[in-house]
Amino acid sequence: DAGDIEKGTYPHYMLKEIDEQPLVIRKIIQSYQDGEGALEMDSDIVATMQEADRIYIIAAGTSYHAGLVGKQFIEKLTKIPVEVHISSEFGYNMPLLSEKPLFIFISQSGETADSRQVLVQVKEMGYKALTITNVSGSTLSREADYTLLLHAGPEIAVASTKAYTAQLAVLAILAEVTARGIGHEVDFDLVQELGIVASAMETLCDDKEEFESIAHEYLTVTRNAFFIGRGIDFYVGLEGALKLKEISYIQAEGFAGGELKHGTIALIEEGTPVIALATQEFVNLSIRGNVKEVAARGANPCIISMSGLETDEDRFVLPEVNSLLTPLISVIPMQLISYYAALHRNCDVDKPRNLAKSVTVE
Ligand code: G6P
Repeated sequence: DAGDIEKGTYPHYMLKEIDEQPLVIRKIIQSYQDGEGALEMDSDIVATMQEADRIYIIAAGTSYHAGLVGKQFIEKLTKIPVEVHISSEFGYNMPLLSEKPLFIFISQSGETADSRQVLVQVKEMGYKALTITNVSGSTLSREADYTLLLHAGPEIAVASTKAYTAQLAVLAILAEVTARGIGHEVDFDLVQELGIVASAMETLCDDKEEFESIAHEYLTVTRNAFFIGRGIDFYVGLEGALKLKEISYIQAEGFAGGELKHGTIALIEEGTPVIALATQEFVNLSIRGNVKEVAARGANPCIISMSGLETDEDRFVLPEVNSLLTPLISVIPMQLISYYAALHRNCDVDKPRNLAKSVTVE
C-alpha cells in the first residue's frame, strides 16, 4: 500500500525504486544462497525445470520484456528450449505444445488477469506452472505449483523498474542452478557476477546528472524516439521504449537494429533521437553501422556502450559486467532518461495517465 511506504527524501517513488536496485540484487543473492554461499533453489523447482523438454514463459508488459531476456539466460545455460509469449495472446493463439512443457509466469503483482487466464487454462490441461512474482500470496502464486519470489520490496510507481531487474536476477539464478543440476558447466561465478552488477548499478545511480542531461539534450522537444539494439540489447531497447512512452508520453519504439532498413528508417527526420545500445561485442560493428545509417539521415544518435567496446562517439559508457547480464545495468539509463524526460514535460511520473499498476481485468 502506497500509504505505508515512505518516499523519504525522494520526489517520486520511481526514483526511489530505481535507486533501490543495487540493494535488491544483493538481497536476491542472499535469499538464494545456501550456508556455503552457493546458489540454491527449491529442489522441486529445479527437478521440474530439468524434466521439462520446453519452457513457456508467459507475461505482460515489462515482465514480458524480462521474459525475453530470461529466455537467453535459460537457453544459454541449460540448453532447454524456451518460448516467450504475451499472456493476452496465448489463450487463443496457443502454439503446439511440446510433450513435457513447463509454464513460467512472470508477474510483479501476481494479479494480472491476462496471465491468470493462461494459468487457469494450462492447469486444466494438467501442466506444471511456476510463478515468479514480487508478491507472496498473490493469485498467480497461489494457483501455480511453485513460486519464486523477487524480494524487491513493494513497487509503488506504475512504471516498473526494480521488479524488472529483480526478475532478471531471479531468472539468471534459476538458469544457473538448473544448469548445474543437469551437469552443464557454467563458466562463470554468478554470485560474483551479480555482485559486480550491483556495484555497477550503484555507479549508474550516482550518475543521475548525466542521464538528466541526456534527457534534456535529446528528449525535450521531440515527439518521438527510437531505441535500437541487437541481440540481448534489442530486448532492453523494447523496455526502454516502453518506459519512455509510459511516463513521458513521447511516442517511442524499440526494435532490432537490422530491422531499421525494413521500415522504421522512413520515420527518421532531422533531429530524431535514436538511442542505440552497444553492449555486445559480436554485434558491436553492426549496431554502429545502424547508427551511421540513421545519422546520415539527420537523426540525433545517442550511443550507450559498455566499457571495453566504447568509441569516441559514445554518449555514455556503462561499467563492464558479464556479457550475459548487461540488461541488468543497461536498463538503468533507460529508466533514468525516461524519468527525467517525464519530469521535464511535467508529467505525473508515478501515476501516468490511463495506466494501472496491476491490470486485473481482461
Ligand atoms: C501493467 C503495468 C506494467 C506491468 C504490467 C504487467 O500494465 O502498468 O508496468 O509491466 O501490468 O504487470 P505484472 O504485475 O504482471 O508484472
